[in-house]
Order: sequence, then structure tokens, then C-alpha cells
Amino acid sequence: METFDVAVIGAGAAGLFCAGVAGQLGLKVLLVDHSDKVAEKIRISGGGRSNFTNVNVSAANFLSENPRFAKSALSRYTPQDFVALVRRHGIGFHEKHKGQLFCDRSAEDLINLLLAECAAGGVTRWQPCNLLALRHTNVDGQSGYALDTNRGTTTCRAVVVATGGLSIPKIGATDLGYRIAQQFGLGLVAARPALVPLTFDADVWAPFASLSGLSLPVEISTGTKKDFPQFLEDLLFTHRGLSGPAVLQISSYWQSGTPIRLDLAPGSDVATQLAQAKVHSRKLIANVLGSLVPARLADAWVAQGAAGGQPWQRPINEAADKSLAALAERIARWDITPNGTEGYRKAEVTAGGVDTRCLSSQTLESQQSGLYFIGEVVDVTGWLGGYNFQWAWASAFACAQGLHAKLRA
Ligand code: FDA
Repeated sequence: METFDVAVIGAGAAGLFCAGVAGQLGLKVLLVDHSDKVAEKIRISGGGRSNFTNVNVSAANFLSENPRFAKSALSRYTPQDFVALVRRHGIGFHEKHKGQLFCDRSAEDLINLLLAECAAGGVTRWQPCNLLALRHTNVDGQSGYALDTNRGTTTCRAVVVATGGLSIPKIGATDLGYRIAQQFGLGLVAARPALVPLTFDADVWAPFASLSGLSLPVEISTGTKKDFPQFLEDLLFTHRGLSGPAVLQISSYWQSGTPIRLDLAPGSDVATQLAQAKVHSRKLIANVLGSLVPARLADAWVAQGAAGGQPWQRPINEAADKSLAALAERIARWDITPNGTEGYRKAEVTAGGVDTRCLSSQTLESQQSGLYFIGEVVDVTGWLGGYNFQWAWASAFACAQGLHAKLRA
């Protein structure tokens, strides 16, 4: 039976990168995945071009029960480090919105980079391979692990769990990482879908269903906590609810039963502009409003009825000041309470996961000696915009350094 220094479970972004770095540090690495393909999520990310990092990354771009946890790994492997690797492989990339970096050609280029790094590290890959059991055992008189798989049993000194979250089960997401954590008595923070569209009760949504397909920039927030960020991003109306970058971002912070708040005309003072229009215009309110926000949105809002007893479907010069102020307020502070999310089927990531209190922020080793957790399986969740891949790279790199220090010390 062949033995290894390290077995990495999960050949996604974090697992591939960790295996490659650890192999190049001289460790004998086995990489195991139940899928026959590697990195399916990289393949579909960023519309097929993978938003592989963001030029501006700090711990403030992540959610976790311990927001400081990610700092150490993020500072030791930065976006600039990953960009240098991408350049070394001759992969063209470009910056889009807000520091987001994408491949020029295809996410496949990134997958080939990771496979080449694994090859350079002499990594052995077993795919498809099902892990049947993981046992703590003695390996050559030292603490180690036995992996029972459908390809037989192998032993190693350390195990890295890089099995990701629960999002998109149809391309191979499972809860194996959480089960391994539980098996060894490590804590979990409840998992939930994040970066996900929000849905509404049919009667709440009926007045807005006709807006499906409409997209506009908004400012969005939720909750009362001061440390919850606001996002200025595009909103997309769908048949069932709200999506687009603004909603995906806020969904990670949204708590069931609470409203989200939208400013549908960020940066413009709708109240003042309506009041001024009243003085010199006889246009219908919807038409005036339609010059401040998309016309379809203006029509839908005005159609919603009356404020202070006065309907909004009338010439603006006949409208009461109070009625116009109420309309402006509804545009600037639209509070609406989702009934849920589109779930793991549509979520880009899973928030929650292995409790960071059980992990070293330096090496990602858990309280169970020789057992490491990296990437999305950990309770560290990035914003939309390349942050989740940067966490995968940074946590993988910190882990590989930690493995080298532990096993080659
Ligand atoms: P990842 O999910 O990549 O890999 C886990 C691996 O474990 C998989 O290969 C899986 O097959 C394997 N595995 C699972 N269960 C197993 C089991 N029981 N046995 C063996 N193997 C098992 N992020 C970003 O920064 N920029 C972006 O552009 C995007 N875009 C994007 C689009 C879409 C549609 C999704 C769903 C997600 C994104 N993301 C993203 C998020 C990003 O893809 C995600 O955070 C990382 O892939 C996480 O990397 P991991 O390696 O931790 O898990």
C-alpha cells in the first residue's frame, strides 16, 4: 500500500492549489475527488471566465463569526501573489468592475494552471474516488490517518479537507467536510445559502412581477447592525423576486424574517426634484419620475395607488406636497421582506461551515492534530467579486506552509 505525507480531499480551487504548493515544497501528496473532473466551480465561475481574485482584498470583504480569522492567511498570500502566478503561466486577464480580475479567454486557463502546478509538485490524483471512511491511526509510529476508499486504503501523516460548501449539488457539492469535522468533535457554524437571489410571497411580489428583466443601480442594506455594509450595485427584477449583484451581496447578510432596504435612485434627491417639477410642469407624475428612474419602474410605483388620499396617477402640478414626498420616500427607502432564498441550487457560496475557533488562523490546522480545513468549507465567506477564490488560494497557501513546517521540521 502506497503511503503519502498528505492527502487532500477535494480537487476544487483550494484543494488543487494546496496540493500543488505542498508538492513543490517536497511533500508527497495525494489528491482525491469523487468527481471525474477537477474544479467544476472554477469552470462555471465568472460566466466561464472566472473572476479569480480582486485587486483590493481585506478581511472586511468576508463574513465569519470571527471576522479577524481570515486576516493572517490573506496577508501572507495576496491577490498580487496570485496575479504573479497567473502572469508566469502567460494567462491574459483584465480588470472589470471594482477591482475584479477575470481571465481574457476562459476559466479553463486557470484550471490548466492549477493542474500544471500539481504536476510540478508530483501530486498523485485519484479521480473519481469515493472516501468511505477516514480514521486516525499510527503511521510509522507517528500520528497519522488511514483513508478507506473505493480504490483501497492508504495512509498519510496529515489530511486536508477542501470539499467546499453545499452550493450547486448537481456539480458535486456534498457535506463531507462538515461530517469529517463532526467526526473529530470540531464545531460547525450553521450552513446557509449565500450570494443567492431572494424570493417573496406571491401576493407581496404580484405588483412587481411585471418588472421581470429590469436592471438598475441601487443602494442596498439590511439589518440594524452598524458593521453590516451597504452595497451600491445593480439590482435585477425576476419573476420570483430580486437578483443581480446588489441582492447577491446583501443576501449573505440577510436574516430570515427581516426586510431589505433599497434606494432605487441612489445619488439623486427625488423629493426635491419632484417638488421643483410641481412648480413648473403639468406632466403626469409617472413621466416626471420616469426621468429619474427607469420608466417601467416609475409606472409600477405610481400604479401602486394613493398616498394621503391622493392618487399618484395625475399631473404633478395637481399633486399634494405630502403625496409627492411619500412617493419620493418610497423610492429612496423601499423596505421589503423576502420569504426566503433560491437555496443551494442557485447560491454561489455557502456561508457558515467549520468553526474558525477550532482552527489555527496561521496554518488552518484544526484542534485534531494533522487535520486541516481550507477554502469554502471553513466559516469564511467572501463578497461577490473574486473574494471567495482569493480565500481559497490564501487558505490553501497558508495550509501548505503549515504542512511543510509540521512534517519536515
Ligand atoms: P470547490 O467547491 O471549488 O471544490 C470542492 C471540491 O470537493 C470539488 O471538486 C468537489 O467535487 C469535491 N468534493 C465535494 N464532496 C466530495 C466528496 N464527498 N468526496 C470527494 N470530493 C468531494 N468565486 C469567486 O471568487 N469568483 C467567481 O467568479 C465565482 N463565481 C462562481 C460562480 C458560481 C456559479 C458558483 C457556484 C460559485 C462561484 N464562486 C466564485 C465561488 C467559488 O467557486 C467557491 O467559493 C470556490 O470554488 C471554493 O473553493 P473550494 O476549493 O473550497 O471548493
